[in-house]
Amino acid sequence: MNMASANIIEIKNLVKKFGDFTAVGDITLDIKKGEIFGLLGPNGAGKSTTINILLGLLPATSGSVFVNGIDMKKNPDKAKQEIGVVTQETVVEPELTATQNLMLFGRLHHIPVSELQKSIKFALDLSGLTGFKDAFAGTFSGGMKRRLETAKALMHAPQLLLLDEPTTGLDIQNRTQIWNLLREINKKQNVTILMTTQYLEEADQLCNRIGIIDHGKLIALGTPAELKRKIGMSSMIEVAAEKDNLAKVAAVFKKAGLDPQVLTNKVVAPGGSNAVDKVQKLMRALAAAKISIQSVSMHEPTIDDVFLKLTGSSVRDQTGSADMEKAATAALMGRGGSR
Ligand SMILES: Nc1ncnc2c1ncn2[C@@H]1O[C@H](COP(=O)(O)OP(=O)(O)OP(=O)(O)O)[C@@H](O)[C@H]1O
Ligand SMILES: [Mg+2]
Repeated sequence: MNMASANIIEIKNLVKKFGDFTAVGDITLDIKKGEIFGLLGPNGAGKSTTINILLGLLPATSGSVFVNGIDMKKNPDKAKQEIGVVTQETVVEPELTATQNLMLFGRLHHIPVSELQKSIKFALDLSGLTGFKDAFAGTFSGGMKRRLETAKALMHAPQLLLLDEPTTGLDIQNRTQIWNLLREINKKQNVTILMTTQYLEEADQLCNRIGIIDHGKLIALGTPAELKRKIGMSSMIEVAAEKDNLAKVAAVFKKAGLDPQVLTNKVVAPGGSNAVDKVQKLMRALAAAKISIQSVSMHEPTIDDVFLKLTGSSVRDQTGSADMEKAATAALMGRGGSR
């Protein structure tokens, strides 16, 4: 046992197979005490499987997991005590009030009766739900439920909070509230956070470090800035066009010395050291070839671009976009918190 470790989680050569299918293929990863770590990947990447092994809910096929120096295989009950968890599915009891939900959880986690009131008050304050303490959880918006679950997970004062896609399906307002809550928990309560997300901009904004996981493999690891730098990306150039024209646009990119990726509605490439010159050259070539386009733009590289470069496909092309659109529409229509 290594209690003095600077790592709250140590994952070594973790493999998880379901029959012949490898859901997690040899992941080695340390999570440092005090950080907000984001495990980023598309649907089916292996995020929940990894989280469930860390929680002791699934046995690993091989490899090991240590939580705060405690071996999950040898001492699962002790290891689990160190972790607060917010699962991918909502688990608040709709027929109970916020207070009753917290009370139930407190009893299940053997929080002493003498401390229960204090810890319920702490959870209500933290989640900003004190004003709703006697309202039935079933009447809460998606964001309020998530906040209640997050606060609940901290009632037994764990050092580590694991959240599996805490903001999927939430609108922008609610997502921002969850981000603020997580930042506060991390800073003020000194809790290390490991979260999964499909949203690149979320990982970019919230996390100190990011691991990108795809098909059960860790394909990149570092701070958001490191990841962007590592793959040597300057400003990105993107040209949107009708689907039928994308191949022609990509050919022009290549002629201009760029390395294009074709997405569903646009062509994207890192601009290199003289991106502005490249854009001008590109526009002239497109006009000369009489290829009609919808727009040309440049942006600073995002984690999305990193993912694109590493995997050859956009996370947003595969997943998440429907959720995001729904959320954006809901926000525009003023349906703030409702699911
Ligand atoms: N119990 C199971 N039996 C068989 N296959 C499984 C099982 N659980 C997960 N898988 C498969 O393992 C892969 C990884 O699944 P996992 O749930 O870990 O992905 P994820 O990254 O959490 O995706 P999502 O973003 O959709 O939640 C998927 O292909 C999934 O179908
Ligand atoms: Mg999942």
